[in-house]
Amino acid sequence: LNVDVPRERRFILELLFNGLRRLEYRGYDSAGISIDSDQRPPTSKSLSLRTPPPLVFREEGKIEKLVTNVYQEAYQSELDLELCFSNHAGIAHTRWATHGLPSPRNSHPQSSGAGNDFLVVHNGIITNYMVLKETLLRHGFEFESETDTEVIPKLAKFVHDRLSEEAADVSFTQVVMEVMRQLEGAYALIFKSPHYPNELVSCKRGSPLLLGVKDAGEEYAKADAFEADLTTANGIKKPKEIFLASDAAAVVEHTKRVMIIEDNEVVHIKDGNISIFKFDSDKARKPGGLSRPASVQRALSLLELEVEQIKKGNYEHYMEKEIFEQPESLTTTMRGRLIRGGESKLKSVVLGGLKDHLRTMRRSRRIIFIGCGTSYNAALAARPIIEELSGVPVTMELASDLLDRQGPIYREDTAVFVSQSGETADTLQALEYANSHGALCVGITNTVGSAIARGTHCGVHINAGCEIGVASTKAYTSQIAVMTMLALALGDDSMSSRNRREEIVDGLFDLPNKVKEVLKLDKDMKELAKLLTEEQSLLIFGRGYNYATALEGALKVKEVALMHSEGILAGEMKHGPLALVDETLPIIVIATRDATFSKQQSVIQQLRARKGRLIVICTKGDAEAVCPYGVSRVIEVPRVEDCLQPVINIVPLQLLAYHLTVLRGYNVDQPRNLAKSVTTQ
Ligand code: G6P
Repeated sequence: LNVDVPRERRFILELLFNGLRRLEYRGYDSAGISIDSDQRPPTSKSLSLRTPPPLVFREEGKIEKLVTNVYQEAYQSELDLELCFSNHAGIAHTRWATHGLPSPRNSHPQSSGAGNDFLVVHNGIITNYMVLKETLLRHGFEFESETDTEVIPKLAKFVHDRLSEEAADVSFTQVVMEVMRQLEGAYALIFKSPHYPNELVSCKRGSPLLLGVKDAGEEYAKADAFEADLTTANGIKKPKEIFLASDAAAVVEHTKRVMIIEDNEVVHIKDGNISIFKFDSDKARKPGGLSRPASVQRALSLLELEVEQIKKGNYEHYMEKEIFEQPESLTTTMRGRLIRGGESKLKSVVLGGLKDHLRTMRRSRRIIFIGCGTSYNAALAARPIIEELSGVPVTMELASDLLDRQGPIYREDTAVFVSQSGETADTLQALEYANSHGALCVGITNTVGSAIARGTHCGVHINAGCEIGVASTKAYTSQIAVMTMLALALGDDSMSSRNRREEIVDGLFDLPNKVKEVLKLDKDMKELAKLLTEEQSLLIFGRGYNYATALEGALKVKEVALMHSEGILAGEMKHGPLALVDETLPIIVIATRDATFSKQQSVIQQLRARKGRLIVICTKGDAEAVCPYGVSRVIEVPRVEDCLQPVINIVPLQLLAYHLTVLRGYNVDQPRNLAKSVTTQ
């Protein structure tokens, strides 16, 4: 936007907007921002010299709408834009609605009321907000939104005003700790207040929070033309920058020096200094006064994420990029973990994060896989090979269902938590549940330092690289690869399965090449998508290793192309789904070579006998075998080891979902109503 906003102001705004752009995949129905207003904050924070209220801008819709409106408003109102650049505390938020429709007043920052005494951005859900709201209403507060979050700034004002009556010098941290004491639910919060100019306080319980620090002397990543330009601009000193964000994507272009904030920690930032305190609900408030909180000392760690990873490169969409990245992401997943064998060495795998726990896992009474969405499907794809090679019964749990049922978990169980983000609220809560029941807890995540990675006894990172498209693609195939390696590691002590294991190791080595090959189907899948663009519904039949492929393919189609789609276990066809079959409804049947192939051949015949409109995914060269009388379309894919076939078979379905979405005109990377990390229950 070519609006004349001074570069200092623009620097701060753009920094916050860029952070939001990086986080947009976590939620994108509305957004907001708060920065200091134009007058320099007074040096003293005595109430008579109170800082002017911060500016707040909130918009429904995508972040770019907020950006446009902020600059337009700045232009129209001819704001005097002189600004205290040397020290500025700004906050911003992109929302995925839990309570209240997307609208400006339900967007964050939420405010304590006129004057914006306290402003809060929140990720999570406050479960006791109704009780708090009733109390605050009784104390004369008026609410403008339908959000659970609004109670937080109002409570902060209430607490601040009350504490200030008791003591002269109430700190921002004390106010926040007192608020925390009353909040139930999950949250990562950042507070801003004109009572505490140049300060921010942040805290968390249950939702992710990361602190990043860039010292004034550090090199800029030059990720942004404006930022690069600013470094050479006359007379502007590169400031020290401190970041608080839900994940690393928002800060990596500024700094790699980060700290993961733990539950019940409170971060206080003032004049470029950072203090971290441990919140203890019992100690937070002694009768008649406030106790000094215990401070936390922890070193910063270095992010492994590269800025390039979070950019689209030459691709139109992240989903497309991530689908095509799969040969590389699989290679990285397996790097250093496969042993080629030869001489006296066997072909095998090494999973460093599990080696001390494999014996316990082998001796478990059962292995329970727990996850949501695509991560659950990946575990389902790996289940047969884990059962086969470990001999341990494997059960599957959708995290929310396990919690709803409070299903039995025992000390003799191994619970494996599969999660790309490592932050999914249901999976995380299921982890707490399994931990409290004494099970060995294993994490399989893509996010180093995530809550699931930290909360499990041991685990494996899938190392697929940052995944930004809301529909998971490369994480799915890497998760299957990791769980296949887990199966190999668990079966490592058995001589009878040695040949089988060696074949799978060979298959894993060759898998990235085979994925490259199957990606060549892109054009065919686009053609198929053209044929299916106007359809209302699509069924996908699979079984055995590829039951998961049917579920995952259907999930892709419904979540991004917004077309009804159902994955069906082919063995259940006669028990209901067959009633749907007619000459109009498109049906994809997965019939690649494995032990269930002949059963799938008869499924195809039976569907044909009911005039089903079939598209068959089969092994290269099998077109005749799967459709002796001709079917509408055959998609031939390369053959790999049966247990690795789901990695290959999902690729054409990912491509189909992608092209269908583009052709139907929907948003590929930010599908309606969804979010990448579901950090609320
Ligand atoms: C959301 C995402 C899905 C993902 C699921 C589980 O629904 O949109 O892509 O599969 O959460 O997420 P996780 O991070 O635990 O794998």
